[in-house]
Amino acid sequence: MAVLDIKKYPAPVLKQKALPVEAIDAGLQTLIDDMIETMYAAPGVGLAAPQVGVSKRLAVIDISTKGADIPLLVLINPVFVLREGEFEFEEGCLSVPDYTAKVRRAERVIVRAVNREGKGYEVEGEGVLAVALQHEIDHLDGILLIDRISPIKREFFKKRFRKVQKAGK
Ligand code: NI
Repeated sequence: MAVLDIKKYPAPVLKQKALPVEAIDAGLQTLIDDMIETMYAAPGVGLAAPQVGVSKRLAVIDISTKGADIPLLVLINPVFVLREGEFEFEEGCLSVPDYTAKVRRAERVIVRAVNREGKGYEVEGEGVLAVALQHEIDHLDGILLIDRISPIKREFFKKRFRKVQKAGK
């Protein structure tokens, strides 16, 4: 297993719509193991393949570190079956370091995915898990949390980002 490099905004791969996983082969198993290790090392509660530079529809989530009684989830080709309700939650992202923002999300979701054994399953999430599922699936569609905030807040983020970039040089 290996800890992979996490791509940061504005890496182009983060803006791409990822392609479906077609084969659950040895290469994919290694990628899954590496993504899990990378997520724990960060540490984070979720990681999507585009965040490690692989434009595939694959994500891992583990919110048990936040006290939830939910096992580690490996989501291959996840799709929403249901999205309902609405609430706001303060989110961060490993690809957008040192930044959090309140994002409006569905309060309850059901997602259908394939696990690493190739078996289809459904996961129902409310609250933090609903947020994690929506946040990671957004990554597979090339959407970052800064794409989910108001244009004014986004401009503010970009301004601050440019300032930090400049200061770092
Ligand atoms: Ni993220």
